Amino acid sequence: MSNANRSSIQLAVIGGTGKEGSGLALRWANAGYSVITGSRDREKAERVSTELNRLLGTETIRGLSNEQAAAQATIVIITVPYTAHQTTLESIREAVQGKIVVDVTVPIAPPRVTEVVLPKGRTAAEEAQAILGDDARVVSAFQNVSAVHLKDPAYTVQCDVLITGDDENARREVIALAEAIGLRGIDAGPLANAIVAESLTPVLLGINRRYGTKDAGLHITNLKSRKEV
Ligand SMILES: NC(=O)c1ccc[n+]([C@@H]2O[C@H](COP(=O)([O-])OP(=O)(O)OC[C@H]3O[C@@H](n4cnc5c(N)ncnc54)[C@H](OP(=O)(O)O)[C@@H]3O)[C@@H](O)[C@H]2O)c1
Repeated sequence: MSNANRSSIQLAVIGGTGKEGSGLALRWANAGYSVITGSRDREKAERVSTELNRLLGTETIRGLSNEQAAAQATIVIITVPYTAHQTTLESIREAVQGKIVVDVTVPIAPPRVTEVVLPKGRTAAEEAQAILGDDARVVSAFQNVSAVHLKDPAYTVQCDVLITGDDENARREVIALAEAIGLRGIDAGPLANAIVAESLTPVLLGINRRYGTKDAGLHITNLKSRKEV
């Protein structure tokens, strides 16, 4: 997809003032998408957007409230801590009907961030689908991409992204989002499979501690091109 085509796609990163969301916002803007960072506080979103634009040398990223950002977007990305997941989704529920909602949330429970958590017996992504209803196309992705280097556009982040969701076309659109920022998006099937990516993040955080790194990631080996199904 050309940069001109990407600019017609409006992305809203909810919680886009945070570590993961601001890094993804910067990378998507750098790849040519129109990007809004969302916050509970519009002025905070504007400040963070100004800083991201400064890093990129552009004026393309805008800051709005989470609700305004979700309303203006074609694709909405959720990057908030799990403790804020439900209230954030409820606040944008109406605005995201009919849209793709990419959930990056990992249900970790500080301070035990290296232990897998499965809240109420299902994943954060499945909870998101239940909160937003069937007309939102929830896709789970990017949980295993460390924020550490995302805001340095000169740094090549190399890892695979497991992409799950019950709508195959929505999964494809999110694969394109991953590929636009140099990551390999892997179609990992239905939303129920989000349990793997959500559980892998605390495992990677533990690996970081034990191996003295900050951005351990995932690579799936021996893939050929994806079959058309
Ligand atoms: N950091 C990473 O390396 C990484 C990697 C992969 C996945 N993740 C996942 O991505 C999500 C975001 O992680 P992060 O590290 O970016 O988190 P973060 O920086 O702590 O928070 C992100 C944003 O969420 C909003 N927020 C924080 N607490 C909130 C609350 N109580 N209620 C409502 N909104 C709140 C804040 O935005 P406003 O104050 O502007 O509203 C904040 O800037 C998490 O689920 C995390 O597990 C993170």
